[in-house]
Amino acid sequence: MQIITIAMQKGGVGKSTLAKSLAVAATRDGLSVLLIDMDTQQSISQWAERREADMPVVIFSTENELPKKLAQAEGTADLVIIDTPPARSTEAPAAVEVSDLVLIPTTPDVEPLEQMPRTLRLCRGFGRPVFAVINMANPTGPAEVAQTREVIEAMGAQMAPIVLHRRKAHRAASAAGVTVQELSNETKAADEVANLWKWTYTQLQNCKGA
Ligand SMILES: Nc1ncnc2c1ncn2[C@@H]1O[C@H](COP(=O)(O)OP(=O)(O)OP(=O)(O)O)[C@@H](O)[C@H]1O
Ligand SMILES: [Mg+2]
Repeated sequence: MQIITIAMQKGGVGKSTLAKSLAVAATRDGLSVLLIDMDTQQSISQWAERREADMPVVIFSTENELPKKLAQAEGTADLVIIDTPPARSTEAPAAVEVSDLVLIPTTPDVEPLEQMPRTLRLCRGFGRPVFAVINMANPTGPAEVAQTREVIEAMGAQMAPIVLHRRKAHRAASAAGVTVQELSNETKAADEVANLWKWTYTQLQNCKGA
């Protein structure tokens, strides 16, 4: 069983969207996936209530309950994806500590980029492999992505090569209790998620070998 945590102190950058999208992608790839909502806003738990499909399994956990819930999942889940709350929290460190891989979503805006070093420090403190993922990039502004990459590289951080652009399908999917690839496989949004999952899966294999 491997564990991915999605963390970023800045709110609204796409943590929950990334967690749901990767969890569904992994499920569709045949993995048994447990999606753990550690945010008391419970966005993912509410999404699961709107959802008809019963996979991935979605549960809520506090940091105190996390070790027990992970121990229960051991042997049945192949992959656990943990969504964490924004702001300084006790949940994010608890999740990062037990993770094989951490993904830090950021929009190409100055505010989340200014917050990123804090989340990077948290991951480095626990010695966890960590990658930034650019989300909500302007589909018609490639210069923005190039600039964002430069800023992230200057922090000495590694980045996922796949960028998620701002696509209406993510909001529509969330409202319907699904993810973009479940709305349609034939959209750019779905392609981006599929490619990000493919890349993420390779990183997980590398973690296993390490
Ligand atoms: N690539 C995208 N394109 C368009 N909308 C997006 C994209 N990613 C996320 N969103 C939308 O942006 C909003 C915020 O996303 P999300 O809830 O995933 O962020 P978050 O980081 O989990 O927020 P919080 O910090 O409050 O938990 C949601 O309405 C979501 O549907
Ligand atoms: Mg969230």
